Amino acid sequence: MKYRIALMAALALAMLPAWAQSKKAAAKPPAAKAAQAPAAEVKDAATLEFEKFRAEMEDSNPAELFEMKGEEQWKSKRGPKNVSLAESCDLGLGIGKIEGAYVRMPRYFADADAVMDAERRIVWCMVEKQGFKFDDIASKPFANANFTPDITNLVTYVAGHSRNMKLDVPLKDPKVREAYEIGKEIAAYRAGPYDFSCNTCHGSDGKRIRMQNLPNLSTPQGALKGVQGWPGYRMTGGVMLTHQWRMGDCFRQQRFPQPKYASDAVAYLLTYMIGNANGQVYKGPGIKR
Ligand code: HEC
Repeated sequence: MKYRIALMAALALAMLPAWAQSKKAAAKPPAAKAAQAPAAEVKDAATLEFEKFRAEMEDSNPAELFEMKGEEQWKSKRGPKNVSLAESCDLGLGIGKIEGAYVRMPRYFADADAVMDAERRIVWCMVEKQGFKFDDIASKPFANANFTPDITNLVTYVAGHSRNMKLDVPLKDPKVREAYEIGKEIAAYRAGPYDFSCNTCHGSDGKRIRMQNLPNLSTPQGALKGVQGWPGYRMTGGVMLTHQWRMGDCFRQQRFPQPKYASDAVAYLLTYMIGNANGQVYKGPGIKR
């Protein structure tokens, strides 16, 4: 067991090149400053700046900016078919109804014959109702330093309309229940070069990698940690990211091939995780470290 945790820690360090890079980029001072100040001082200044930034962000949640963009995109006529999502997209509570829709997904949608999480469903609407091409959306599904996809804004907007509502994944629906059970199996499925499953890192209490607590997704409290704050503005890199991204990135940590964007596998895992958090209050889009 000890060996396993040590291995995991090493692996986590080795596997986060994206962070390391963005941290480096964020800490890079302007050329003039760098010439005057020794490296340690520059780093301190960057740390101070970061703390100031975080304090400011606690007052005004940057996710709100993305919600605003998402609202505009939800309401405007877009895509080859020139229709709005507001007038065409059913998130499970009726066309255009978004109040409380996020906390009731994943759910089963008969028109798509699939269990869908919020992001998958909105993508489906963009393709089926607005005429966008799935492959175009899936080719750049997540934000980076220079770009935030429309889908991220839209998910954030929809999620914002479930703020302070209870999670209520309809697990009594047999299709959703089945998705939950498969999700549970995926979480326990061990494979890859290190024989990891999600549960290796997230299946028991008190696990940590570096300074981070790894939530135990099989318990209501742990699962809630995996739900709360998503979609979230990630301080590392300064980008807005969704649950779909989180799942994909953890597959990467596991050294599995990443699942296809908006696929069954991700929807099932989310059904399992969010379902485990059922009954607890979702606080809306947030901030992640
Ligand atoms: C090698 C260990 C490891 C494995 C395996 C792993 N994760 Fe993670 N997971 C992490 C780490 C480390 C973080 C925290 C990353 C961060 O803070 O940026 C994390 C974060 C998360 C979070 C976000 C928690 C929060 O506080 O918001 C979720 C949800 C999650 N993982 C789900 C999964 C799922 C589902 C799988 C299986 C597909 C999985 N993880 C596999 C290490 C792992």
